[in-house]
Amino acid sequence: PQLTPYVDELPVAPVLAGDRTILMATSTHRFHRDLGVAKTWSYGGEPYLGPTIEAQSGEPLALTFGNALVGGHLFAADVDPTLEGASELDRTQPRTSVHVHGAVTPPEADGHPENGYRPGGSMTHRHPNGQDAAHLWYHDHAMGITRLNAVAGLAGTYLLRDAYDTGAAGNPLGLPSGEFEVPLTLADRRFQADGSLNFRTSRNVPQGRWEGSMFGDLMTVNGVVSPYLKVAAGYYRFRVLNASNARAYRLFFSNRMLFWVVGTDGGLLDAPARTSAVRIAPGERLDLVVDFGSLAAGDHVDLTNDQQEPAEVVAATAVAPTKDIIRFVGTGVRGFTSAPPDTLRGGTGRPALLPALPAAGSVARRIVTLTPATAPGWPPAGMMMNNLRYRDGPILSPRQGTAEVWEFVNASSQAHPMHLHLVHMRIVERQRFDVAAYRQANPRPAPGTMWSPAPDAYLRGVPLPPQAWETGAKDTVGCPPGMVTRVLVRFPEAAELGFDPDASFAAVNGALLRGYVWHCHILDHEDDCMMARYRMTT
Ligand code: C2O
Ligand code: CU
Repeated sequence: PQLTPYVDELPVAPVLAGDRTILMATSTHRFHRDLGVAKTWSYGGEPYLGPTIEAQSGEPLALTFGNALVGGHLFAADVDPTLEGASELDRTQPRTSVHVHGAVTPPEADGHPENGYRPGGSMTHRHPNGQDAAHLWYHDHAMGITRLNAVAGLAGTYLLRDAYDTGAAGNPLGLPSGEFEVPLTLADRRFQADGSLNFRTSRNVPQGRWEGSMFGDLMTVNGVVSPYLKVAAGYYRFRVLNASNARAYRLFFSNRMLFWVVGTDGGLLDAPARTSAVRIAPGERLDLVVDFGSLAAGDHVDLTNDQQEPAEVVAATAVAPTKDIIRFVGTGVRGFTSAPPDTLRGGTGRPALLPALPAAGSVARRIVTLTPATAPGWPPAGMMMNNLRYRDGPILSPRQGTAEVWEFVNASSQAHPMHLHLVHMRIVERQRFDVAAYRQANPRPAPGTMWSPAPDAYLRGVPLPPQAWETGAKDTVGCPPGMVTRVLVRFPEAAELGFDPDASFAAVNGALLRGYVWHCHILDHEDDCMMARYRMTT
């Protein structure tokens, strides 16, 4: 449907704190004034998505999630039972597994994809929250149907706070807080004429078969199509999450004004980074401070997007950038008037981030190739890391207490946001390489055999350092096509974590599991091969 943007007000989810039981259940929601009421899924009885869970760093939190979904899967006809982990039963008895993305959590509480449960089932997660304040998020992670469960509505914000960053004990940095701090969860969606959600993107793939990527043609923020927010004349802190399945954004304001990035996935940057545009891939978060001080009553400024998808995707699906994201309308009332400080870490009570560049030769190097399972084209026949599927070995086993440089060699024609559970990464650099020469010199065996040739002889141009606003602690890193993206990953020791990251645990189906997963955060890719397990050994 064609819809008028900026007619609905931005909803802000209620905040929950303390130990809770949260049910996943069916709900109803109107995504836009001119759309009918849709059937949705949500956490905690919200119309769509979930409440914002607020936790304090250092204070453990016990969350029990219960699957109370009735009436079968919201996208029963889109379940593809040929995908690893999925089955016909998912159409009538949808599985769920809740993961807190970016959380440093013991393996049994991490919401392992293979630890899903069906309606009537539940699971208690004990989160130690022993990490810096950060914008985490919780979402479904059930193996083989994650992409469907997330679009149905199973995602929410988890804000971890501490005394240093707007915690219960104060706000020493003086960042905008209270009504001037607003979570913005971005997701592109597609609708049927009656207002219900539509999972289908591609007309070339029969319904019920994996489609490559789900792209919406409309933009939602906090579950509403292109909303508006009334803003006072002053500073706002926006906790931006890209909860889209596959779409990345290049965000900027319609008047091209500058703003500050103060934090990223794992918490605050060392210093605010001033910029007029940012990129955000699925799974990533950006902590922005924006000054509406000169916005007069009744005037507005829009947050827009011009990120193009790769040509082959555009050709097959006609997806265009979702440009109408959110409109900010001035009230003229005086708001929060202090600018962000010059320094966020180091010398202000919190240590500066460690350098992202390791001393040469001090860390192990690991090469990860990103490729379509077969020849390029759209839709791809699955996406793979190191030419392996989820079940294939070897499982990567970095040692606890070490650091490694991972080189994501993207020999596909799409960007992949690579995500590791539990640990944090820092972006070292990105460098072009000659994909055709690399592939020609290194013939790829059939899927299932490890393939991770070094890209060194095919590198082109100079390595590019990360943007200033990408220099913080990351758990999800955008890896552009035709580039090698190098990240430094630290694998902590049990003593530092306060739990054994390699403890084995029994899943609800009795299977013995161990370790964590890492994957591409394009949820469609994650559901089809682009996910693997890893273990941190001693
Ligand atoms: Cu946001 Cu493995 O997930
Ligand atoms: Cu991917």
